[in-house]
Amino acid sequence: MGEGIKLPVINGLGRTDRIDKWWRQPLAMGIALTAALIYTAWRLVIFPDSISYELEGSKVMSPIFSPNILEWELFGLNEWDHPGWVNAAILVLWIPFGFRGTCYYMRRVYYRTFFQSPTACWVDEPDINKKIGYGGEKRLFIFNNLHRYFLYAAIIIIAIKWWDVTHTLHFDEGWGFSFGTIIMATEAFLLTMYVTSCHALRHLAGGSLDRWVSGISAFRGKLFKKISVFNRSHGFWFWTSLGFVFLGDLWTIVVAEGHINDMAFVILG
Ligand code: FES
Repeated sequence: MGEGIKLPVINGLGRTDRIDKWWRQPLAMGIALTAALIYTAWRLVIFPDSISYELEGSKVMSPIFSPNILEWELFGLNEWDHPGWVNAAILVLWIPFGFRGTCYYMRRVYYRTFFQSPTACWVDEPDINKKIGYGGEKRLFIFNNLHRYFLYAAIIIIAIKWWDVTHTLHFDEGWGFSFGTIIMATEAFLLTMYVTSCHALRHLAGGSLDRWVSGISAFRGKLFKKISVFNRSHGFWFWTSLGFVFLGDLWTIVVAEGHINDMAFVILG
């Protein structure tokens, strides 16, 4: 084993010899994640209204409240007996939260932005982090190992989201699309790309094999290489898909509240 190389880090939180604006990215990401959390809490608890709107027979659903399982007919029940404060997002959001919260890319982001561990490359971190040291993802962080299981659930959610998109295509007068369709389809596409570029999916596809020789293993090898291409932009898919969840929700609110009118473009009558 070779000896580790010690970088000449200047002591003191945030001190460094770096001359670039290294703090910009973690600061922006920290603000974005905090805003996303506050907005979600506001939507779930304080303003859980205007979650969808109807347009000439089609239905557009807010991405935060999709899938709206309270509308489903399950076990012969289509009217769930539930307390007034329960809504679809409260019942389902643990899946996207768990999936994003345990995402390998997300871990990098929150370790840097919220825990300052590390603050950045070649930038000194808080003294407390040096005292605690890094002992791996233990205790509460052991839940990060659940990522692959959240992946399975996220794949089901994506299928339902595309199903919701089809509900925006059928109008009283025929088939077409609306601005709501474009927003919901874009959100579903970005989410699909985020999941398709997942590290755990890549491992599942072919990373767990020693060799990709022939037959199924060769196919899995090809799949692995394809996902690897998407995986290079995993951070991009993470942020754009997250952004569109909130953009889609805001769009649903302003249309449902009557501030803006959506338009139906019927193509097949
Ligand atoms: Fe980011 Fe799986 S690693 S979603």
